Amino acid sequence: MAFRWGIIGLGSIARKFAEGLVAVPSAELYAVASRSREKAEEFGGDFGAKKRYGSYAELADDPNVDAVYVATPHTSHRDDALLALNGGKPVLCEKPFTLNAAECEGLIKVSKSKQIFLMEAMWTRFMPVMVKIRELISEGSIGDVRLVEADFGFRAGFNPSARHFDPKLGGGALLDVGVYPISLASMLLGQPTDAVGLADKGESGVDEQSAYVLKYKRGELAVLSSAIRTNTAHVAAIYGTAGKIVIDSPWWVPKRLTVYRDGSEPEAIVPEFVGNGYNYEAVEVERCVADGKIESEILPHAETLAIMITLDKLRSQWGLVYPQEKV
Ligand SMILES: NC(=O)c1ccc[n+]([C@@H]2O[C@H](COP(=O)([O-])OP(=O)(O)OC[C@H]3O[C@@H](n4cnc5c(N)ncnc54)[C@H](OP(=O)(O)O)[C@@H]3O)[C@@H](O)[C@H]2O)c1
Repeated sequence: MAFRWGIIGLGSIARKFAEGLVAVPSAELYAVASRSREKAEEFGGDFGAKKRYGSYAELADDPNVDAVYVATPHTSHRDDALLALNGGKPVLCEKPFTLNAAECEGLIKVSKSKQIFLMEAMWTRFMPVMVKIRELISEGSIGDVRLVEADFGFRAGFNPSARHFDPKLGGGALLDVGVYPISLASMLLGQPTDAVGLADKGESGVDEQSAYVLKYKRGELAVLSSAIRTNTAHVAAIYGTAGKIVIDSPWWVPKRLTVYRDGSEPEAIVPEFVGNGYNYEAVEVERCVADGKIESEILPHAETLAIMITLDKLRSQWGLVYPQEKV
């Protein structure tokens, strides 16, 4: 029997995820939910979803849904994920997982108390290139990792009411794209002991560009940046005591890496890749749910929380407080 997915929030990433599910033989896009029934009908029609709901609550209550993918803006993640968990559904929730660490902690508590699966949809984490990197690092291919350098910046046209710029929708580069380099560094080095950064806030009050250095317990560093008004190089490099690994196009979509082992010729590696990339996180959810897990060992709750704590730490240095956080 197919694994029946439901999607909440039918915007641009929901469409990519739905396309990704096509490459997962066990998956069926069973239900979709929008705030607008017409939109649900249209999206559902495009992907052959049996159920097309005009409210998120109806999907959360549908007993036939095996897992819910939350694809709403950052500021709605907590409430929409909670809705699904309270409806007894395993949840895959887009990045940044929540607006802040307190919201993240709240969701993890519910997942644990109800014993229902919950995972951040950091899609790159599950891709073959990242699996290969974890293998290379654990084999000691480049020695001990000492430094990570990564940037994610793109140029969006300024629009104060678009989600990238609107503080009411959790706008800003750090939460939208900075979370990717931070998650990569987290995968390699764990939770930072220190994080310092600078940001340039634009007209709408959110960070249009931000740069930060994270320090880890054995003195490792990560030098990272994010931008929503500037196209940057999109480089991710991992430097070790015996070489380095460079990931080509690390965020969109990583398919190839090069290992430079000291004293050897560089080796380019292109692991087998299928689908559009969103399929890999879906497969992980299906695997974990089938195994009765409430979290993935590839991206456990504690790590998602640690990432949210780092985002909070940096924002507090910049005085970037979202309207929902002001009491
Ligand atoms: N993993 C990735 O590669 C990736 C890429 C881009 C974005 N994302 C993440 O995915 C989330 C959604 O991003 P997106 O680019 O898909 O955004 P989007 O195109 O604006 O879609 C978001 C959807 O959320 C729903 N929604 C609920 N409350 C809303 C509100 N107050 N304002 C606007 N929309 C609202 C809407 O769906 P209905 O009208 O159907 O209810 C809307 O279509 C973000 O958290 C983002 O960080 C991830």
